Amino acid sequence: MGEHARSYEGSLRDPDSFWLRAAELIDWDARPAQALDDAEAPFYKWFPDGRLNICANALDRHVDQGFGDRTALIWDSAMVPAKRSFTYRELRDEVARVAGALRGLGVGKGDRVVVYMPMIPEALTTMLACARIGAVHSVVFGGFAPKELAARIEDARPKVVVAASCGIEPARVVAYQPILDEALGMSGHRPDHTLMLQRDTLRAELGPGYLDWSEVVPTAVPAEPVPVSATDPLYILYTSGTTGKPKGVLRDTGGYAVALAWSMDAIYDVHAGDVFWTVSDVGWVVGHSYIVYAPLLVGATTVMYEGKPVGTPDAGAFWRIVQEYGVKTIFTAPTAIRAIKKVDPDATELAAYDTTSLVSLFLAGERLDPETLQWASEALGVPVTDHWWQTETGWPIAANPRGLEPMPVKPGSATVPVPGWDVRVVDGGGRPLPAGQEGEIVIRLPLPPGALKTLWGDDKRFVESYLTRYPGYYHTGDSGFIDDDGYLFVMGRTDDVINVAGHRLSTGAIEAALATHPAVAECAVIGVPDALKGHVPYGLVVLKAGATPDHDDLRAELVAAVRRDVGPVAAFRDVAIVPALPKTRSGKILRRTMRGIAEGRDEAVPATIEDASVLDSLTVVLKDRP
Ligand code: COA
Ligand code: AMP
Repeated sequence: MGEHARSYEGSLRDPDSFWLRAAELIDWDARPAQALDDAEAPFYKWFPDGRLNICANALDRHVDQGFGDRTALIWDSAMVPAKRSFTYRELRDEVARVAGALRGLGVGKGDRVVVYMPMIPEALTTMLACARIGAVHSVVFGGFAPKELAARIEDARPKVVVAASCGIEPARVVAYQPILDEALGMSGHRPDHTLMLQRDTLRAELGPGYLDWSEVVPTAVPAEPVPVSATDPLYILYTSGTTGKPKGVLRDTGGYAVALAWSMDAIYDVHAGDVFWTVSDVGWVVGHSYIVYAPLLVGATTVMYEGKPVGTPDAGAFWRIVQEYGVKTIFTAPTAIRAIKKVDPDATELAAYDTTSLVSLFLAGERLDPETLQWASEALGVPVTDHWWQTETGWPIAANPRGLEPMPVKPGSATVPVPGWDVRVVDGGGRPLPAGQEGEIVIRLPLPPGALKTLWGDDKRFVESYLTRYPGYYHTGDSGFIDDDGYLFVMGRTDDVINVAGHRLSTGAIEAALATHPAVAECAVIGVPDALKGHVPYGLVVLKAGATPDHDDLRAELVAAVRRDVGPVAAFRDVAIVPALPKTRSGKILRRTMRGIAEGRDEAVPATIEDASVLDSLTVVLKDRP
């Protein structure tokens, strides 16, 4: 039996022993005697009697152990451009000041703080500062529209919003204050204060209700870490569900700390002193787990990069960072590699840099196509690891466990389920499927430490969304199969969620934006394949009787509506105006069938179809899209 099989089997047979052993990776104020508490199943708790502070584990303990001079954070902005680095001591002191500032603004244990900041060090220090005083952060990605920000503020009801004056995209500076003002105007909730960090690229005019970071933080009394219960909430991170309303994934503290620390060794093989670079955004779960918490928990150096993989200034942006900082491991989405490959197909830009420090590349967020896997493996000459996870899970469900036991790579597979995750493939009725047969991927309860606790303020939606369809199992929303060797192949979502450039979006939210147009009678949005972004949303709209708009103008207005209501991150550009949408006799739009056709599959026409000729005419539209 290999190391992975031994560990996997042990984690499922005796989760208590397995996770109590892993808990030794963390410094506890009260060491837990119990791992799993299932008294209130399906609301499982991990380490119910443990007390800790995750910020102290990420920063103070490394300083206390004599590693205060080690680099904790390297920030590199290709957009300003600028660079900064912080030792563990400097980062601890800065975080303590930010924590003191928040406390001075009345933030205490359990209070929510919305963080609306781009990829700057202050985003990371604010998150850790919240954790230091037991407050709950909720970071909102900068590419969303005011309406999406408003929905998050309304739901999280923060005491304070911490924002920056702008984000910087290659083609434009994104002024955050107008977006925030609009969002606050829409939201039924008003925070007590908004703390604004002024960036020189674009300073904001601070009106009433705003405080200037530079006047509040430097003079704040540093705050010491507050021990909290392992089961206390650490953060809320909103993610797209099947409806327009985002889901507030609630993460606990102790289970998350243990799972992340364990994953750094077992999956990523990254340890104290290693340089780890996750190329994502702090607004996504990958950023939370692997830019902020996990690398610092194990005493590694985390790199935070503001910029795109290419064009800032060239296709060598990634490789400059690797060379300059001696990066050991990169973690990003396949789309970033496709973007590089597109402009540097022969890897000549890459060859101009010394990337010998690089040992490993990890990819997640969307399906890794075999071509990208092959290109990256050959160009970099290091193992490329596909791994599968979700905002809800917080850390990988399936991976090639590089630290535990590297396994042969199979293109198209995220390799094997990670210890702790009891992954099964079932049919629509919940019956187990044999090896090789595609079905719904479900995970037997309880989920391991680190997975979501519930949805913020909505236990009912948590149970309905994830735990009801297959009783005793967590419904992932992904389909796939397990082969004879136990390798898991994740094929795609079975619901109305799409992944666009590694960003998770709800087609329902995009449809809601299209439906606001007065000429639109009904609409459907599906994800269609895209060579760079994996998938992009594609709209199909039917006009109201009597509406005769100019089609080009209408398309432009619909694109603008999605940008206005969902945000630029939706990358919504294509919409077709069609006479009708294919439906079942009970009126359900056949989105899945249309998606299959767009993906070039031979879709069986459902027996329940109302009018097959509608689908026939749409097949042409879907196959001939620009
Ligand atoms: N703030 C404001 N706007 C943002 C934004 C942010 N943080 N992030 C993206 N946007 C905007 C972009 O400027 C773009 O706007 P535009 O329509 O005016 O051009 C739009 O949202 C779409 O962004 P994106 O899908 O990222 O496309 P892109 O062409 O800018 O970049 C990639 C494409 C592939 C290079 C980029 O998405 C990427 O590097 N992704 C991989 C890494 C990653 O972030 N993964 C996430 C999870 S692991
Ligand atoms: P997010 O919550 O944004 O991390 O998105 C999670 C979704 O991304 C999953 O449910 C999958 O559909 C998809 N995903 C993430 N990683 C992979 C992967 N390695 N292979 C295939 N799909 C993936």
